[in-house]
Amino acid sequence: MNIKENSPFTPGTPVPVELFVGRDDQIPDIIRDVKQASSGKQKNVFLVGDRGIGKSSLVAFIRRMAITENNLIGIHVFLGGASSIEEVVHRILDQLLKETREQNWFEKIKPLFGNNIKEIGLFGVSVSFDASEPDLKDLARNFPDVLYNILQKIKEERVGLFIALDDINGLAENDEFANWYKSFVDEIASSYEKYPVFIMLTGLPEKRDALIACQPSIARIFKIAEINKLSDDEVKTFMHMAFEKANIKVEPEAMYLMVQYSSGLPILMHEIGDATFWIDSDGIIDVGDALNGVFAAAEQVGKKYLDPKVYRAVRSERYRSILRRFGELQIISSGFEKKDVEAKLTDPEKKVFHNFLRKMRDLGVIESDVEKGKGAYRFVNEIYPIYIRMESERFKSVRIKTLL
Ligand SMILES: Nc1ncnc2c1ncn2[C@@H]1O[C@H](COP(=O)(O)OP(=O)(O)OP(=O)(O)O)[C@@H](O)[C@H]1O
Ligand SMILES: [Mg+2]
Repeated sequence: MNIKENSPFTPGTPVPVELFVGRDDQIPDIIRDVKQASSGKQKNVFLVGDRGIGKSSLVAFIRRMAITENNLIGIHVFLGGASSIEEVVHRILDQLLKETREQNWFEKIKPLFGNNIKEIGLFGVSVSFDASEPDLKDLARNFPDVLYNILQKIKEERVGLFIALDDINGLAENDEFANWYKSFVDEIASSYEKYPVFIMLTGLPEKRDALIACQPSIARIFKIAEINKLSDDEVKTFMHMAFEKANIKVEPEAMYLMVQYSSGLPILMHEIGDATFWIDSDGIIDVGDALNGVFAAAEQVGKKYLDPKVYRAVRSERYRSILRRFGELQIISSGFEKKDVEAKLTDPEKKVFHNFLRKMRDLGVIESDVEKGKGAYRFVNEIYPIYIRMESERFKSVRIKTLL
């Protein structure tokens, strides 16, 4: 029996660069802009993708390249929850401080932070940027200058700056933010000959549209990069690399199962890989391990995504009984025909079935299967139906127990 310490999988957090796979269509384009920025042409990229599809991971990957190959300072700023420009400016400068203070050239830029460096934590092991609201307003107004002055001081050491503003979702509907960003870019274009700063925003696809609605010329500023599912081959490569890192062998059938159920979704491949990693006890993943891993992952994913989104949100008892019916129906793998399911429903269930399907579509649980034609649907991934089946089994066994 081998003792396990660390799983190579990172469900829910950006993947370490050495296990990063795919995105071959997007990376060269983005890197080209990073290079252009390095030579003085300010560039802006907006990376869009659904929740959990891999935006932050791609940002981390590009940032690494910007640092190692382009000699930029690279900062990754998480904006989750930020809702004002001052907050954005604050988080950027805070991250910049944290990222640079270990460098031997930090002394050169330290005076620019003024008295606003605050030592926090025991023995001053960490620092934060601490500025008053009026100061932050000033900094926001003069932001092009702020960054430029920093870069001027260290132009011997670093050629420019890479800034990722990750998760701008809370700001996308904010007119002020859109206008501020637009002025920032305009001012750079009109006042600086060279401005080696690359900025990458990330958000959900609908947030890009929201931002453009606030300030139509924003559309011209950004190059859009969009990421979607990974291919099965990419998922397989990832599984290979991750298990290899942990010194674990994977039998081909087991690999097939794990890849299949990952459905090209990075978040699922990590959940499935992680669950399977912990289930295995002999250093070889066989079909049994993989199946158990898929079930364990379904449980996790269902609890994290379907429970709050569907089971708790759907109050209607009829909807719930339809969901359980779904679970009982053997015909359901990942896709189904409306009429096949309808045939198994009771009359009251039939009445609300149409609305039920619409609701599930709105919640992002199922989607129309256009290739198979009208009335054909599929689950957005392979693991949701497993959880739905598990839930219905649980319900059945509770009912049997209470009947006994
Ligand atoms: N290219 C990739 N290679 C390997 N694993 C990846 C890749 N992209 C994402 N992942 C993994 O998928 C999961 C989701 O990734 P990430 O957090 O980057 O997505 P996101 O789009 O930023 O999500 P959110 O919308 O929640 O911010 C994480 O577990 C991450 O480790
Ligand atoms: Mg993210």
